[in-house]
Amino acid sequence: MFKILTKKIMVPSIKLFEIEAPLVARKALPGQFVILRIDEHGERIPLTIFDYDRARGTVFIIFQEVGKSTMQLGAMEEGDLLLDLVGPLGLPMKEERDKKIVCVGGGVGVAPVFLKARSLYENKNYVISIIGARTKNLLILEEEMRQVSHEIYITTDDGSYGRHGFVTEALKEVLEKNRPDLVLAVGPVMMMRACSEVTRPYGVETLVSLNSIMVDGTGMCGCCRVMVDGKVRFTCSDGPVFDGHLVDFKELMSRQNRFLEEERIASERFIQMCRKIERCDN
Ligand SMILES: Cc1cc2nc3c(=O)[nH]c(=O)nc-3n(C[C@H](O)[C@H](O)[C@H](O)COP(=O)(O)OP(=O)(O)OC[C@H]3O[C@@H](n4cnc5c(N)ncnc54)[C@H](O)[C@@H]3O)c2cc1C
Ligand code: FES
Repeated sequence: MFKILTKKIMVPSIKLFEIEAPLVARKALPGQFVILRIDEHGERIPLTIFDYDRARGTVFIIFQEVGKSTMQLGAMEEGDLLLDLVGPLGLPMKEERDKKIVCVGGGVGVAPVFLKARSLYENKNYVISIIGARTKNLLILEEEMRQVSHEIYITTDDGSYGRHGFVTEALKEVLEKNRPDLVLAVGPVMMMRACSEVTRPYGVETLVSLNSIMVDGTGMCGCCRVMVDGKVRFTCSDGPVFDGHLVDFKELMSRQNRFLEEERIASERFIQMCRKIERCDN
């Protein structure tokens, strides 16, 4: 069992947990993820390792409540136990040195970008960060990202904070005035695709961290397969980081929508059950 030591509400739908998991903390590297289960009936939930503390033997995750399992996870409290947590999974991100690198994070995607940006910053790269959210109240980790960036651009879709517009507009501006060696983009699939299209004409290598639907997370079930450069790749064991110019995003998006109806039913059932419990408690 894995104990939740700390719970922090970043914004109402996005939460941070610090979880006791010494063996995972000992080996975790930027770019890797864990898969956890709340209980024996639970789905397997893949989540990026936001940070780790090897001395305390803990890992940190930041997750957005988007459906039944993440809502149930968000309702857990400090001291509660998770049934299992496996990791670190996936390949760590390649180390870089003395390069100019743009780190783009959209929405909850800022969380997976943070550890990579910090490692790049510590390895003497020049880090330009672009972080964005739909609106000011959904923006996370601004201060943390400032501390690991030489330059930072903040965007909101509705203009309520920072620049008005999408992260891709800020990315285009950076590409025009300050040609980087590498761009790393993490966020919704649409955003990663758009970033890859923005960088393509400039010929700048662009890495994306894919969030395909996963089951085992170790390369055995084939659920997370994606087409990269015309070849089948497993996001869990060959990724999750891939060259964005070679990913078939159209296929990825259609695979991600396979279970929409089941996901909708599960979320509705969970919300109804919570309402019933609330009524009983009152
Ligand atoms: C490698 C990886 C790292 C991730 N890191 C983070 C993170 O750091 N923070 C975060 O908030 N989210 C992260 N995700 C996404 C997260 O796993 C899903 O949001 C979560 O599984 C949704 O489950 P649900 O039951 O709450 O939602 P559901 O209603 O079941 O699904 C909502 C959407 O979530 C996605 N999803 C559902 N089940 C899975 C699954 N088994 N595997 C992957 N995606 C799924 C699908 O796109 C689906 O349409 C990551 C996914 C992957 C693959
Ligand atoms: S999740 Fe099963 S092969 Fe990747």
